[in-house]
Amino acid sequence: MKNTVSTLLEQKQSGDKITMLTAYDYTTAKIMDECGINTILVGDSLGMVMLGYENTLPVTMEDMIHHTAAVSRGVENAFVVADMPFMSYQVSVQEAVANAGRLIKEGGANAVKLEGGAEVCQQIEAIVNASIPVVAHLGLTPQSVNAFGGFKVQGKSLEKAEKLIQDALKIQDAGACAVVLEGIPAKLAQIITKKLFIPTIGIGAGNGCDGQVLVYQDAMGLTAGHTAKFVKRFAELGEMMRNAVNEYITETKSGEFPAKEHTYAIDEAVISKLEEENV
Ligand code: KIV
Repeated sequence: MKNTVSTLLEQKQSGDKITMLTAYDYTTAKIMDECGINTILVGDSLGMVMLGYENTLPVTMEDMIHHTAAVSRGVENAFVVADMPFMSYQVSVQEAVANAGRLIKEGGANAVKLEGGAEVCQQIEAIVNASIPVVAHLGLTPQSVNAFGGFKVQGKSLEKAEKLIQDALKIQDAGACAVVLEGIPAKLAQIITKKLFIPTIGIGAGNGCDGQVLVYQDAMGLTAGHTAKFVKRFAELGEMMRNAVNEYITETKSGEFPAKEHTYAIDEAVISKLEEENV
């Protein structure tokens, strides 16, 4: 069954947790879709995990459309959400609507996601009025890394927690169909989840949210070095890949690969003839 804004809302109402993972390519999206994931986020995190940038700021509309289209081609039932990259919605409401439209028309997304609270409500309203579902994103919003002075947990003081609750209510009033809560205390996320009728999807926001999202390279154990406290590695695909690449190198150098079963045969008579002709 196709996941939609309505089914996500029903999941919140019935207490059925919403599952979301990021994906950036056809093959990965197809596997996740076949597993029955509810939603796939083509996150601008692709700037870091696919393109090797230090943060998400350099990601362009073209990058997002390219990867969203690949994901959409692999998906039958998951609800595909595409991130609006830095500066694709902040400059003007008109530009925000036009860029959201491109992610739907050219990328095949079902919804767009943008970061921020009260300051982006006009954009959310206008995009929703163009019949495009919008997922909001509050808390540790990575596009504000410079303003925050690093990737830091948000909403810890009373004033900041109150501001986050107000922002959540405002983006809901503006028409957002869901909200990602990133890097905020679990108890605050639980309060926000209870106050909203739209689903909350948490990342580093505890298990009181209506759903969870992780960057798939983190969840599959493909990222090396420091990872955030909220990351759980559900597999060690990085280690598996390293072992497989090493085996490939060894077998190719020794001639063990390709073996007979990987090789196409030809009639011996053809070979004899070729040898006779000395071509
Ligand atoms: O870009 C992304 O992957 C995200 C998630 C971390 C929620 O926004």
